[in-house]
Amino acid sequence: MGNKPGSEADPNKKGKKKDGKSTPPEQKGEQQQAEQQAAQATLIPQAQSDSTVNAHDVGDEFDRLSIEPSSLQEPLRSLPVTTEDHEQFLSLQNYTKKAQSLTVDHFELLKVIGKGSFGKVMQVRKKDTGKIYAMKVLKKAQLIKRKQVAHTKTERRVLEDIEHPFIVGLRFAFQTDNKLYMVLDYFAGGELFFHLKSGGRFTEERARFYAAEIAMALQCLHENQIVYRDLKPENVLLDEDGHIRLTDFGLSKEGVTLTKLTHTFCGTPEYLAPEVIHGQGYGIAVDWWSLGTLLYEMLTGLPPFYNQNLHMMYEKIIRAKLSFPPHLSPNARSVLSALLERSPKSRLGCMRGLDDLKRHPFFDGIDWDRLYRKQLIPPFRPETYGGKLDTTNIDDEFKRETPRDTPVMASTLKGKDVKFENFTFAKPESNLDDSSALNDDDDDRFDL
Ligand SMILES: Nc1ncnc2c1ncn2[C@@H]1O[C@H](COP(=O)(O)OP(=O)(O)OP(=O)(O)O)[C@@H](O)[C@H]1O
Ligand SMILES: [Mg+2]
Repeated sequence: MGNKPGSEADPNKKGKKKDGKSTPPEQKGEQQQAEQQAAQATLIPQAQSDSTVNAHDVGDEFDRLSIEPSSLQEPLRSLPVTTEDHEQFLSLQNYTKKAQSLTVDHFELLKVIGKGSFGKVMQVRKKDTGKIYAMKVLKKAQLIKRKQVAHTKTERRVLEDIEHPFIVGLRFAFQTDNKLYMVLDYFAGGELFFHLKSGGRFTEERARFYAAEIAMALQCLHENQIVYRDLKPENVLLDEDGHIRLTDFGLSKEGVTLTKLTHTFCGTPEYLAPEVIHGQGYGIAVDWWSLGTLLYEMLTGLPPFYNQNLHMMYEKIIRAKLSFPPHLSPNARSVLSALLERSPKSRLGCMRGLDDLKRHPFFDGIDWDRLYRKQLIPPFRPETYGGKLDTTNIDDEFKRETPRDTPVMASTLKGKDVKFENFTFAKPESNLDDSSALNDDDDDRFDL
């Protein structure tokens, strides 16, 4: 069984970002504000039926966290050997060696671009190549304390395993005694949340485009038996051209399908499917519900069952009638009703996967093959004056902070806890795109 709804909300997490989204400030009492923050935060389970780890077990968990260089060689042993294979093998070995010696000192920390419960995300520049990345830094002690080791293990593995045009890619991973570092491709277009907040709501054309790209990303995860569980505008990024990239796999879980269920109560309250709130087992159907919620928010400015009071919101998700503002087209109402179908069995996306959406008239006109190849021109191009370095689309609240790799007291972790064995990772060189390389001015302005 999952935990009781409402008991796991983390009021520190992201609540601030959503302030002002809906309710006029004068209506917010202190208690209301706290409830609203709790309602808007990602729920992190305190005890997880499917991933519970005790502090003394974490060493073992950490051991399995990363892909060992030897396992990367696995396919070479079972496939016919060609010269090309051998070259790839050598390049990969070379790269793994490079990654093992990689430290935060190889990066210039440029800007803080996001903050979560376990650490922060910074825009960084790799000093030798000049390339710009997003570096997600997690504190091991926080992960252990909040029993998030298993989730981090999954995040790390999913990021490495999944390559998709609408999902962020992992480039490097390394660690110190106290922290984990994941270096991701950087996407300069900002969060969908940032654009939704400034524009109020999107046109149907624009919302359709984002929903279609997100649906393709979800389908890829589902085909790999991964449930995403945290679809929300903060976790959907835009690239410089205006295509989406799904980020943050901190709540993903592997081995889940429509029928292979999981039970952990987690996610972000507004986007939780009814079956999660009911405490029943749930499967990948929850992501299609969250897509319905996100699409509704893109089209109207607010999630469908939004309420400042967390328990009222859960009540509404479970039983309130779905209502639509007058400006929504019949096709938009129909697709929203089908995605926000309370019975997972009859929900759009849960009969034939993405094909359910492709057949719905709301998506008429989308050429899905061209969409996948990024041949459809996005309806909106973010302003990125400085190219990759640009942070116009990042909330000022983060940018004000000095980017630094804050020191952690050396004594916080002991023994096996210290080492996430083989966490280290680097993408094989052949897959790296050098086209975005910038000049390295080797300017160590910031305190590491
Ligand atoms: N690859 C990236 N490119 C640009 N910005 C990114 C990238 N990855 C993350 N960010 C920014 O950092 C923010 C926080 O990242 P992320 O969602 O992974 O962490 P989090 O919400 O703290 O995660 P967790 O739920 O695991 O604690 C994102 O919402 C986004 O604004
Ligand atoms: Mg996030």
